Amino acid sequence: MTITSFIPPHRTLMGPGPSDIYPQVLQALSRPTVGHLDPLFIGMMDELKQLLQYAFQTQNAFTIAVSAPGSAGMEACFVNLVEAGDKVLVCRNGVFGERMRENVERCGGVAIVVDNEWGTAVDPDLVEQVLQNDPDIKIVAFVHAETSTGALSDAKTLAEIARKHDCLTIVDAVTSLGGVPLLVDEWQLDAVYSGSQKCLSCTPGLSPLTFSQKAIDKIQQRKTKVQSWFLDQSLVLGYWSGEGKRSYHHTAPVNSLYALHEALVLLQNEGLKNAWQRHRNAHEELKAGLEKLDIKFVVEENSRLPQLNAVYIPEGVEDAEVRNELLQRYNLEIGAGLGALAGKAWRIGLMGYGARSENVALCLKALETTLK
Ligand SMILES: Cc1ncc(COP(=O)(O)O)c(C=O)c1O
Repeated sequence: MTITSFIPPHRTLMGPGPSDIYPQVLQALSRPTVGHLDPLFIGMMDELKQLLQYAFQTQNAFTIAVSAPGSAGMEACFVNLVEAGDKVLVCRNGVFGERMRENVERCGGVAIVVDNEWGTAVDPDLVEQVLQNDPDIKIVAFVHAETSTGALSDAKTLAEIARKHDCLTIVDAVTSLGGVPLLVDEWQLDAVYSGSQKCLSCTPGLSPLTFSQKAIDKIQQRKTKVQSWFLDQSLVLGYWSGEGKRSYHHTAPVNSLYALHEALVLLQNEGLKNAWQRHRNAHEELKAGLEKLDIKFVVEENSRLPQLNAVYIPEGVEDAEVRNELLQRYNLEIGAGLGALAGKAWRIGLMGYGARSENVALCLKALETTLK
């Protein structure tokens, strides 16, 4: 048997992520690998930290990229902040809220779940009621941009309510970072994680993460060791902030970090506000085209994510057949529905580099022709 090199085709990625990658990011990935304790690399990591602080709009000293995908960022928040017996309010309005619940339980915590219908935003009044009735709750966890349904929740209001009840917040910003406003300091969010492969248009496999001072204090007051050695952020901190004398924790994914650095330089050059506006413009163009095809959105207009458009599959249309035709004929990937929306909805991503008129036009044309 002789296996030859894997050479994938050029797809246009308009699903829930990974998104299309900026060509400059792919180039950055192929630059020469240096040692991960090389002074030049450490200098790049310092810049990366500043660029992440800009993306998150935070001054948090603890702002890093976990060397693993968004799920590891999620897990890093829970394993560090939740100790056995801690009560955590988990808002569940899609797949990723359910994963948060699972994380709480695996940490030995007690998850108090507030359910909201799939496709709707988290209802702040429900969160307020539960917190009023249970003063033992210590943390409120929610997904800012629920990729499984396309719903955006009001992170600012949810964090205000959490603070009023003396709770920390764990916020999933995997799909929101770079695509819609996310103001970590202004909204006083405590533990926020994201992913490299969505609106940052970087390669998958890294998870930007930031902790407020309050989150760090809680970690430092832990009575028990964090059960995961790899994700124990008090150990990782020594690697990211050793001020010139960094200690080895794990081998950093050197080239992936070049790629993230490049993606964040592009974001900085464009400007966050312009990036948010570009996502909104692309969404408006897509919406106008889908309306002409009589395709309806799952989420109400006021909580719709511009970067993740969940739409109902028209009646009588075979889900997999259409997605397969788009892939084979147009090299175009759109996402299937997840969980409760499986077989009922498509998820059309307009993330990062993919949030462009060119992509919208391709998707609309391909859908129109295929549906005919
Ligand atoms: C909202 C949300 N949270 C967490 C994740 C997990 O990220 P990853 O697949 O990078 O592990 C995803 C991935 O799609 C996501 O959309």
